Amino acid sequence: MIVAIDGPAGSGKSTVAKLAAHALKFQYLDTGAMYRAVAYRALKDGIDLEGGEDLIAIAKNEPIEFGAFGPNSVSIGGMEVTDAIRTREVDVAVSPVSACPEVRDALVEQQRVIGKSTDIVMEGRDIGTVVFPNADLKIFLTASPQVRAHRRFEQNVLRGIGSTDEKEILAALIARDAYDSSRETAPLVQAEDAVEIDTSRLSIDEVVDKIVDLAQAVHARLKHQ
Ligand code: DC
Repeated sequence: MIVAIDGPAGSGKSTVAKLAAHALKFQYLDTGAMYRAVAYRALKDGIDLEGGEDLIAIAKNEPIEFGAFGPNSVSIGGMEVTDAIRTREVDVAVSPVSACPEVRDALVEQQRVIGKSTDIVMEGRDIGTVVFPNADLKIFLTASPQVRAHRRFEQNVLRGIGSTDEKEILAALIARDAYDSSRETAPLVQAEDAVEIDTSRLSIDEVVDKIVDLAQAVHARLKHQ
């Protein structure tokens, strides 16, 4: 069973997707971390972020692994990048990288392989529209830009990485939303059959409960088919 969770930055996707996966005993995949890992590798080697052979080669040839260096670790080409992909530089670099069609093709292929082998909660921007248009359950999370910026701010303070200037975070978030929603390949749009949840005034637990209830209902229906 595939639960697709899409939505803009700071809508609470990662937090609730992780918890929902745990409650459902499903695997969890953060596809944003994959785009971030490619962006980080490109930045590190001074590779053109706007596309080109070198960038595409990273996405095609350097395997991205989750958990190889500890439970929540992310690595690319055998190099651990768990914290390195959460910096301000990567926040900025990841938009052009994720707009490159060949990079998307390479990562989507990996995401489909992972999703076909197990029950999974997969979160990103295009899971319900492109990666798994036939996902059993599609959730689209939203929240006001101010709420989302505040969440990112708290997250950065807690982690000790990224910007701690809330105004700057809000401006960057609005710019990234505009870029992600207007790019030609797989823009951030809500799938027609997605359930929209506005998380602005909901607690994390309330959102997780909603998703788990919906997933369990779908699971029961699938079993009886
Ligand atoms: O969810 P996030 O902020 O970690 O995502 C990082 C970037 O990757 C974001 O700018 C959008 C992009 N992304 C994407 O284009 N498609 C996905 N499935 C996941 C993320």
